[in-house]
Amino acid sequence: MIRGVIFDLDGVLVLTDELHFQSWQQLTAAEGIHFDRSINQRLRGISRMESLEIVLERATRKYTSAEKAALAERKNSIYLTYLQRLTPADLLPGVVDTLAELRRRRIKTAVASSSKNVPIIMERLGLHAWFDAVADGNDITRSKPDPEVFLLAARRLGLPPVECLVIEDAQAGIESARRAGMAVFGIGTPASLPGVARLAPDLAHVTVDELLRVD
Ligand code: BG6
Ligand code: MG
Repeated sequence: MIRGVIFDLDGVLVLTDELHFQSWQQLTAAEGIHFDRSINQRLRGISRMESLEIVLERATRKYTSAEKAALAERKNSIYLTYLQRLTPADLLPGVVDTLAELRRRRIKTAVASSSKNVPIIMERLGLHAWFDAVADGNDITRSKPDPEVFLLAARRLGLPPVECLVIEDAQAGIESARRAGMAVFGIGTPASLPGVARLAPDLAHVTVDELLRVD
């Protein structure tokens, strides 16, 4: 039986996945590195430095570690300027209704994300009040697809993994949840999440009954 639901943040609760895309796009345009949406798909769910390594696959020269650190820093400053403009209107469809219904049923809720910007995003959106626990990129040493962040979130909820459902939009996150021994529900399409049986384009297209129905 599912007693806790663990949500990914970027692309599940809020449209920040698009802001990550625009920030990388701005950085790569300035650096003269090819970047597009299909490369961006590979960045979903993984850490900032791992994302940078993927972005630099298309670079025409080698970057030193110091240059890589500076690029990651620049990307994050661009992203932070976007985050300043976030409002609760940027929450994705169905999020608040789903959280309210889970609370009504006394199902515990957590956020588990590879991002180090989770505290600022949750603050801007007034999300803290909705969650019993948070585990993010500041708490972990191995990002998704490693199961660490979901296992930590479950521990903070006081629940065994088998009683947790993960809601994810990234292939790396789905793998992470499966390795943690948790049930998964995908936010996306059969093309963006191949091999995920239960999915919807957003939380407005699935009821809490459907979410909690685990075989
Ligand atoms: C994940 C995003 O949630 O956070 C990734 O899906 C991103 O695209 C990662 O790279 C790290 O984010 P941040 O905010 O620490 O740069
Ligand atoms: Mg995501």
